[in-house]
This record gives sequence, structure tokens and C-alpha cells, in this order.
Amino acid sequence: MKISVIGSGHVGLITGVCFAEKGHEVLCVDHDREKLARLKKGEVPFYEPDLPELLQKHVASRRLVFSDRTEDAVEFGQAVFICVGTPSTERGKADMSYVEKVARTIAENLKDYRLVIEKSTVPIKTGERIRRTISRYVRGDVHFDVASNPEFLREGSAIYDTLNPDRVVVGVDSAKGESLLREIYGGFNCPIVVTSVGSAELIKHASNSFLALKITYANWLSRLCEASGADIEQVVHGMGLDKRIGHHFFGAGIGYGGSCFPKDVDALAHISEELGVDAPMIRLISDTNRSQLERFYQRIESELWVLHDKTLAIWGLAFKPNTDDLREAPALRLIEKLKAAGARLRVHDPVAMPNTRKLHPDLYYAKDPIDAASGADALIVCTEWPQYKEADLAKVKASIRVPMIFDGRNCIDRKKAAELGMTLFGIGKAPVKPAE
Ligand code: UGA
Repeated sequence: MKISVIGSGHVGLITGVCFAEKGHEVLCVDHDREKLARLKKGEVPFYEPDLPELLQKHVASRRLVFSDRTEDAVEFGQAVFICVGTPSTERGKADMSYVEKVARTIAENLKDYRLVIEKSTVPIKTGERIRRTISRYVRGDVHFDVASNPEFLREGSAIYDTLNPDRVVVGVDSAKGESLLREIYGGFNCPIVVTSVGSAELIKHASNSFLALKITYANWLSRLCEASGADIEQVVHGMGLDKRIGHHFFGAGIGYGGSCFPKDVDALAHISEELGVDAPMIRLISDTNRSQLERFYQRIESELWVLHDKTLAIWGLAFKPNTDDLREAPALRLIEKLKAAGARLRVHDPVAMPNTRKLHPDLYYAKDPIDAASGADALIVCTEWPQYKEADLAKVKASIRVPMIFDGRNCIDRKKAAELGMTLFGIGKAPVKPAE
């Protein structure tokens, strides 16, 4: 089928590339011409495993083409996906001006039936607003439908997630729209859940907030573990074996980040309150998440006594492994606090250093993890990249000034650290300390 995708950012580009992989003909639209020029050459402006290869494959196969005109999207595909950004303004309120503008442009260029599908993460009732906007601006008596098809991909495994989803949710109120969406997803081997537009919109927000709640529950439990002498990894393992609870997204750390969970949790609370439904539980997720990093900082400060003039190594800058995305990354907030306290920072990340350098040109960017640790008064781990989990702790010990590690992701080998006589502070675990 011919499919148009408006907005070629993380969601739109991956959606377009994956539809092309499934055999559809896809037009991806973006107003940023510089970005389009790079995409046409098969260059991806952000780090996402497997995306460059698949992009190059379908630019070459001609199943994926690009344009900077939304009008072309309306002309090209019978299905038109809206994947433009909905940035947060004040706490939890989304800026819907890009979506609204796209809806108007679609209306003004509508000549034949089109299925307009919102895929950007949007507030509840956006589908209804898009439908009303198109009705208002359409010229003549042209039929159209509006559907919601939220995406559940994770950065870092976005291609895999999109090609192998647990389920596809389609919120659609017409038989024609449903049949087009079933055709689009015919090649995907997963259940297709058909709901009303409003339910599909809520499924997306509620899923992200539920996962954020689950992580936050583990983070809160980690505090109880520290206070009571229990071990968070043993506790969540024992709990997670109950199939009703499960192990996924149940790892304690220094808090969730990224462009989705923080924004979506706040958005769900905001929308609920707007609809007259109090949301103290949802508000508490954000507050607890923020204080998790604060506690980690206080731990570092209390152990090191004075941060001024201390040299600290940081492993991991991105909000999670396999991405160079720094949005709401706990490491960034920590860097700001440590810098304000007068510490000197030696940082490392396998892919996120160029993006960090734009924000903090004054840090030392290490050539490898051991270089970062060299001469430091302590090492702080903020992202659980595999190379940090597997790092040679003997080499760390040989190069660091004080063999002390603050592991914000419980990813450093405790046994090895103990054997080497290092000090290791984790989250929700008893510290590893050499006998004094
Ligand atoms: C998230 C959802 O997982 C996707 O399903 C959704 O499509 C996406 O948001 C979106 O709305 O677009 P993403 O933000 O890419 O995906 O990242 P996640 O893998 O969900 O991780 C989010 C944060 O939670 C990271 O900071 C990660 O370190 C943290 N996390 C995750 C934990 O602290 N503990 C865990 O056990 C799991």
C-alpha cells in the first residue's frame, strides 16, 4: 500500500523505514530540508542500531522516498500517518501546534478519501480534535477517517520493536479505516487490537505511565532495602517470578529518563485533572523519580565529604544504553549538580559524548572508560552500557586515585569489586567495603 508519514523524527522515520521493510511504498515528509538531504543519502541524524542499514536499503529499493511538502503526503498515500512532535510546555501540557497545522494542511489538500492516523503520542481527545479541524478546513465534500495507532517502540531497540511488536493497537471508528489498518499491518505477526480512537489514545499514555510506575515502585523499594538491610535485586527477582508481576521494567536505579516517560506521566496527570479526575498517584511517580537522583547525589556528597576540587569520573551519559539521546538523562542532571558543587568531571559514553559536549564543553571527554577513571577520586556509573558491565575492574583500580564506585544502575560486578578491595555503593544494596 502507499503510505505517507508526516514528521521524520525518531517515530516517523522508524515507522516509514519499517513499513518499507514490510513491502509498502512510503513517502516520509519533514520540513527540515537539511535533515532530508542527509536521509536521502542514507544518513541518520541520531544513533539507533540497525536504522542506517535499513534506511539505506529502502532508499536504494525506492520503497522509501522523501519530501519537504505536507501537500505531497496528502497526494501520495491513502493512509497518512501524523508523526510530528508534541513538546511539553508547562508541566504536562503538550504543544499541539504542529499537529494542528498538519491537520489543516491535510484538509486544504484533500481531494479523495484518506485515512489520517495519529501516531505521535498525543493527549486524549486529539483524534476528535483532528477530525473536527479537518472537517472545518476541508474544501468540498471529501470523505476521510481519523484513527489512532500509538507506537510502543523503545529507543535503542526501535527497529526490532517496530518489526516485532507485542501488539498493534488501532483506534478506529469506521469499517473502511479498520480494513486499511488491517491491510497495513497484515505482514506483522502479532495481535491487532481494535478499539475506539479514545481508548487507543489512553492505552498509549496509560502503558507508559504504568511502566514508569513499576520502575518507580522498584526505586522506592530500594530505599526500603537500604533502610532495612534487604537487597533490591533479590526482592524484585522474588516478586517478578509471580507472572502477574513479571521482571520487565522492574529494575531500580537513578530514575527513568528519556523523551517519553517523564513527559507522558506528567501529561496523563494533566489530562486527568483537566477532565476532573484527581491524579495524586500519577503525580507521585514524577516526584519520586526526581528524588531518586537527588538521593544518589546526596550519597556521593556524604561519602566524599567535600565535592569542591574533587575529580570524578562518570560512565554513561545517555538516558539509557544504545542511544545518544540525552533528553531527561539522569546523568545530565547529576553533572549540573556536581559542577555547581565545584567538582571536576571526566566523562565517558560510547555514543553520547558529542551531544553532551554541545551542552557542557568544559568537561574532560575521555577516550575510553579507563581513561575517564584515571586519577579520579571516585567513579560514578549512570548508564548500564555493556562495556561498563564488562569493564576490567583491576585496570580501573590501577588507574583511579581512590577505588570507590557509585553504581547508579547496579551493573558493576560486586564480587570482583570485593575481591579487589574496592568500595562499591549500589542502589538498594548493602555497600561493598574493604575491611578498615
Ligand atoms: C518508552 C517505552 O518503553 C516505549 O514503549 C514507548 O514507545 C516510548 O517510551 C515512547 O513513548 O515513545 P524509551 O523512552 O525509548 O521507551 O525508553 P525505555 O526503554 O522505556 O526506558 C525509559 C527509562 O526507564 C530509561 O531511563 C531507563 O533507564 C529506565 N528504566 C527502564 C529503569 O530505570 N528501570 C527499568 O527496569 C527499565
